Amino acid sequence: MCGIVCAVAKVNVVPILLEGLLRLEYRGYDSAGLVVANQNLHRLRTTGRVAELGKLVDEQKAQGLAGIAHTRWATHGAPSERNAHPHFSGEISKIAVVHNGIIENHEVLRRRLQDAGFEFISDTDTEVIAHLIAFNHHQIHDLLEAVCASVAELQGAYAIAVIEEARPERIIVARNGAPLILGLGKEGNYAASDASALLQVTKKMIYLEEGDVAELVCDSYRIFNGLNGKLGKEAIRIVHESNLTAEAIDLGPYTHFMQKEIFEQPDAVANTLEMVFNASSISPRLFGNEAETIFSQTDSILILACGTSYHAGLVARYWLETVAGLPCNVEIASEYRYRDPVANPNTLVVGISQSGETADTLAALNYAKSLGHRHSLAICNVAESALIRQTELRFLTRAGPEIGVASTKAFTTQLATLLLLTVTLAKMRKRLSREREYEMITALRHLPAALQLALQVEPQVKIWAKKFAQKRHALFLGRGVHYPIAMEGALKLKEISYIHAEAYAAGELKHGPLALVDSDIPVVAIAPNDILLEKLKSNLQEVHARGGELYVFADADSLIQQSEGVHIIRLAEHAGLLSPILHTIPLQLLAYHVALQKGTDVDKPRNLAKAVTVE
Ligand code: G6P
Repeated sequence: MCGIVCAVAKVNVVPILLEGLLRLEYRGYDSAGLVVANQNLHRLRTTGRVAELGKLVDEQKAQGLAGIAHTRWATHGAPSERNAHPHFSGEISKIAVVHNGIIENHEVLRRRLQDAGFEFISDTDTEVIAHLIAFNHHQIHDLLEAVCASVAELQGAYAIAVIEEARPERIIVARNGAPLILGLGKEGNYAASDASALLQVTKKMIYLEEGDVAELVCDSYRIFNGLNGKLGKEAIRIVHESNLTAEAIDLGPYTHFMQKEIFEQPDAVANTLEMVFNASSISPRLFGNEAETIFSQTDSILILACGTSYHAGLVARYWLETVAGLPCNVEIASEYRYRDPVANPNTLVVGISQSGETADTLAALNYAKSLGHRHSLAICNVAESALIRQTELRFLTRAGPEIGVASTKAFTTQLATLLLLTVTLAKMRKRLSREREYEMITALRHLPAALQLALQVEPQVKIWAKKFAQKRHALFLGRGVHYPIAMEGALKLKEISYIHAEAYAAGELKHGPLALVDSDIPVVAIAPNDILLEKLKSNLQEVHARGGELYVFADADSLIQQSEGVHIIRLAEHAGLLSPILHTIPLQLLAYHVALQKGTDVDKPRNLAKAVTVE
C-alpha cells in the first residue's frame, strides 16, 4: 500500500526510481508519479502502471541527480492524476512531497493553511503536508528544520520524502507509523518503503525509527529524532547488511509470484522450522529469551490479526485448546481496537502479520497493552517490521519475501509456527509426554515432504478450475479446524478471481446458505478423515439432495465415493494435526488456476494492497 522510493546520486536517478517503483508494485497501487530535480522540479504522474510512467519518462526525457517517486493506493481522494503524488507547494520556492500513511488531522490543518492563503489542488491529505512544510519553511528557512517542525504537527501515520527546487541536491525523509528505510550506496544515497526497492543499488540499509527525520545528500546522510519538533542531537542508527537476494524477489521460471510462492512452501516451512529439525526437544527459547518465564504465567491466549493472518489464528485456536488446554480468543484487529474488552494480565497477546506493518494489527496490539495485558508475542515474516519491535517475544517465520498480494507461503509458515507454539505450551503445561513430543517433532520434520506431495494434485485442480471460471459464486464448507481453512480458500478465490465466495461451517448450512444451493453454485468441501467426517458427510448429502455440485478435497482414507455431482480430489492419508496446513495447498492452487482461466492480474488484484499500512 503506497510505495516510496527516493534517490540522490552521482548518476541519473530516474532509472533507479522506476526500478524501485516496479519492485514496490506488489504493495498495491492505483497511480504512480515522480519528481526529478533538473534546474526545476520536473513532475510526471499517471493513473496507469509504473510502465506507463516509464513511457512518460522516455517521452519527456526526464532525468536528474535527485528525485522522489511514489505509487499511491487511494485513501483520501479518487485515484486520479490530480491526486497522484508527488504534491507541490509554493510558487517561488517550490517543494514536492510524497507520502505513505494517513494524516488524521488533515481537515484542521487544511482550514488553517487555506486561511493562510494556500490553495489546494488535490483532495488528498498529503497536500496538507506539502503546504505545511512550505509554511514553516517561510519562517525557518531550512528545509530539514521545517520538515521537523511540520511533522510534529501531524497526527496519524506517515512516511514522507521531500525535495525543494532551491536546493535540489538533498532529500529530506521522515517517518512515524509507516515504514521507511535508508539505503547507503557507492554512488548515492536512497530511501524506500522496503528493502526490495533498493537491492538494485545497495545492500546497506538503515531502518529508521519512529519520529526519525533524515537528510540525504549524494555522499552523506544525517538522522535526527524529531518527535518533539526540534532537530536536537544527531541520532546514531545501525547499518544493516540486507540478506535479501535479488533471486528472492525475482520470478525465476514462474509466471506469477503467487505461483512461485505456492511452490516455495515446502522450503519456506523447512526454513521456518529449521531450529526444530535439528533439536531433540522443543524449547520455549525459540520464541525469545523471556519466553519460558512468560509462558509459565500464561493462562490464556488472545490472537489479533487481519485477513489471512486472522485465519491462521482461527486454526490455532483449535490446536491451543485441544493440545495445550489453553482458552484462546481470536479477534479481527480492526474490531478489537474499538471494543471494550476485559483485560487479563496473564493472557499472552499474539499478533500475527506477514508484513508486520498492518496498521490495525499494530494499533490493536498497543490497545491490548494499554488495557493491561502484560505479555505479547509477534509472529511475523519481516525481521525489521514495527510489529517485531513492539512485542516482548517474537518468532520470525522464514518464508522469504512474499510478493503476491494473496498470501500463501506466509500463511502456511504462520500455521507451522502456531503449531510449534501449541506444542511448546502443551509441553510446559505438562500435557505432552516425552513420546508425544518426539512424535510431534517427527511430524513437523515430515511437513515439507508432505507439502511437496500435496502440490502434486495440481493437474486435477486445473481441470476443476476450468469449471469454476464460468461461475459467479461459490460456497466453501469445512468443520472444526478445517472451517478456517475453508474461509481461507474462499478468501483466496475472491481475492484473485473476483468470484464471490463464502465459507460456512458445514453445520450451519441449514441455517441459511442451503437456500443458495442449486446446480449453478459449486460447493467446495474440505473433508479430511477426522472425527467430524461423518457429520460433514451428512451436510454434503443435504447439498447433493438439492442438486448442488460438490467438489470435495478428501484424504486418501476418507470414505467418500465419487458419483454424479460429487467430484473428489484426494490428498495423502489423514495427517492429524498437520491436516489443515496440507489442505490449504489445493485451495491455493484452485484460486490460482481459476484466476489464470479468467485472466485477472493474479499478483496485483484490483483494489487490494499487500501491506495495509492505513486504517
Ligand atoms: C492484506 C493482504 C493479505 C493479508 C492482510 C493482513 O489484506 O492482501 O494477504 O492477509 O493484509 O496482512 P498482514 O501483513 O498483517 O498479515
